[in-house]
Amino acid sequence: MYLIKFGGSVLTDKTKAASFKQETMNQLALELHKAKKQYILVHGAGSFGHILAKKYHLSEGYTTPKQYQGFALTHAQVQLLNLYVLNALHIHHIPAVSIPPHALLTFSNHQPTQVDFSLFHKYIKTGFTPVTFGDVVLDETRGFSICSGDVLIQILAAQLKPEKVIFVLDEDGLYTSNPKIDATAEFIPTATIQDLKKYSTSENTYADVTRGMEGKLDTIQSIAKMGIDTILLNGNKKNRLYEILIGQNTRHTLICGGKE
Ligand code: IPE
Repeated sequence: MYLIKFGGSVLTDKTKAASFKQETMNQLALELHKAKKQYILVHGAGSFGHILAKKYHLSEGYTTPKQYQGFALTHAQVQLLNLYVLNALHIHHIPAVSIPPHALLTFSNHQPTQVDFSLFHKYIKTGFTPVTFGDVVLDETRGFSICSGDVLIQILAAQLKPEKVIFVLDEDGLYTSNPKIDATAEFIPTATIQDLKKYSTSENTYADVTRGMEGKLDTIQSIAKMGIDTILLNGNKKNRLYEILIGQNTRHTLICGGKE
């Protein structure tokens, strides 16, 4: 079983509110269909979630009643993106079923404290494809929190011990620095947990309430410590996801799971 995350920057234009990249999603759905593997799909919020979450300061927790409207609007938008993702999967005959995080997770002080995994287990066992996504959630001490797709990947990896975790990004993989702003950035084909600590990434210029690549490196480190391999690949390049899934060589970064 694989855990796959489609980054919000692959599925949406992060600079423009609620702009869905339909063609990219159709291509990725086709590749998932052709590969015929068992997996849980997690997708980011992209410009359906980050812009509103930033506007209403949702990642800071409750500060003013106006944020209730912001929470509700953000949830509706990420749910809409989820529907677009499901539609593309259904067109390719994938029996995808949505599992909205806000209904199963409890957060406290911006950290998940309780997660009900039973739906994931039941759907996987029956042969469905569970699809979950970056969402807003209630938080027992802070009122509410953002639950990123990367946090979901981390808790699902710990519980379900997938064969591999795959991050589908808008870059070929990991670089020594941010390739979007640094022409000297070098591509890294394989890395260990120790290597990850050396790489710095600059902040993204668009609204990102979940720390972009920097947060992702923390997530990957904790997955690697569970002994699980992580693959980073480019979702904009046709068939890379498919090739990885069927075990064919293609451009990607492999972060080897293992001890620190
Ligand atoms: C963010 O999820 C969720 C909200 C802003 C509500 P992610 O952090 O997983 O989204 P991307 O992949 O960065 O777009």
